[in-house]
Amino acid sequence: MEEIKFYYGENIPLELHKVRVVQKLHLVPIERRLEALEEGGFNTFRLTTKDVFLDMLTDSGTNAMSDNQMAAMMRADDAYAGSQSFFRLQKAVEDVLGKKYFLPVHQGRAAENILCHAYVREGSLIPMNYHFTTTMAHITQHGGKVAELLYNEGYKVDSDHPFKGNMNIEKLEETIKAHGAENIPFIRMEASTNLIGGQPFSIQNLREVRAIADKYNIRVVLDASLLGENAYLVHLREEEFKDYSLGEIIKLMTDLADIVYFSARKLSSSRGGGICTNEREIYQELEALIPLFEGFLTYGGISVREIEAMAVGLYETLDETVICQSPDFIAYLVKSLDEQGVPMVKPAGVLGAHVNAMEICKHIPQNEYPAGALAAALYLISGIRGMERGTLSNQRDEDGNETLADMELVRLAVPRRVFTLSQIKYVVDRMTWLHENRELIGGLRFVYEPPVLRFFMGGLEPVNDWPEKLIAKFKEDFGDSL
Ligand code: F0G
Repeated sequence: MEEIKFYYGENIPLELHKVRVVQKLHLVPIERRLEALEEGGFNTFRLTTKDVFLDMLTDSGTNAMSDNQMAAMMRADDAYAGSQSFFRLQKAVEDVLGKKYFLPVHQGRAAENILCHAYVREGSLIPMNYHFTTTMAHITQHGGKVAELLYNEGYKVDSDHPFKGNMNIEKLEETIKAHGAENIPFIRMEASTNLIGGQPFSIQNLREVRAIADKYNIRVVLDASLLGENAYLVHLREEEFKDYSLGEIIKLMTDLADIVYFSARKLSSSRGGGICTNEREIYQELEALIPLFEGFLTYGGISVREIEAMAVGLYETLDETVICQSPDFIAYLVKSLDEQGVPMVKPAGVLGAHVNAMEICKHIPQNEYPAGALAAALYLISGIRGMERGTLSNQRDEDGNETLADMELVRLAVPRRVFTLSQIKYVVDRMTWLHENRELIGGLRFVYEPPVLRFFMGGLEPVNDWPEKLIAKFKEDFGDSL
């Protein structure tokens, strides 16, 4: 929200909510943090929250819920079939996303599984602005391939382009011509392209994608997991829409897609997920897969309490005071770190602040996972848990070779309405110190590498005793401080 000005000219984001339920955090000593890393294979996914101070792993299922969401959970209608909770959710989907047919699924990747099961075959190609880990895994599991079609600007870490998530329209048309429209079951647009730093696309771009899709008679699928935040950035950055409400922008975007799916763990600050459409034919193609993979059509593997929270959460995505908080805090975090000389993904996007590990750890080769190493080092010196988004998160190619990531990032997620500004300042302080001592960080190697989505449960170890050296320097500078 830009309107709130401070008399002394300070430029800080102001919380537009109050904290009513709190949870105690634990900042354990650095020696314990090293043990925790060793127990968790130097993989931040495998840390347990009792060892974590600021959990910036993800916003998935960690956004703060509102009082109204909690209240709605109390009226959940327990029924295997025909629950009133489902009908309230269905109405919320229609009101907010403008689609009348709704299929509930237990989370976002379950929607991907259903869509890929229905439409992806051996030889299918799915053009998209950029992949997400689970999306890619489902497409390849079903024999398909992904074509990532960003403009060059999207791959630039440090840029001032407002819409780095835009799809390259010329490349899209070339790809369709080269591969044949009949082998392209759908074009996927991801709102706020997760893996390149939460970067949005513009409505102008989505309109152009729609025009190409119509020309070749291909469906458009919108991954709406981060749609609210993408809409907020359209409101701030796309001239044509500066006077539009979030609700109007969201509708404009969903109207341009044939199928919309989402992780409700993000979109509506709840749990669950869903697929929606206005076409009866699509609904019928997918309908039978819900009871097969998820659960009956009126709960889809989600508890009715979460269904109620999801319905209220969807309406709350229309409220700018809810949606602005995370992007505004992220913008503050990125600006503060940038001022301290820490290389960041720019412009600031959504979901989290993204630290450029390729630059900070340029002394670590990509096959020793610079972003994984930086995430482990940050946890070690601060108790802050970020997430590796680089080569470690990539899957190997068909011949088992590493596929080196375009970007090596550490994502510091800022879930909605969870952190205070002093906690964000602590992040700035410790990340700045780590940047100044970056030469002490070393690489990682696998000791246990799972075949699918290896980054979740993989175990690694440092290539030498760099963690001990980092601890020694920390003690020198911080003494007894945690
Ligand atoms: N699509 C996008 C854009 C996502 O960010 C995610 C999840 C999914 C699909 C899958 O949804 O987790 O409910 O199955 N992103 C999480 C993250 C995991 O941490 O960024 P899910």
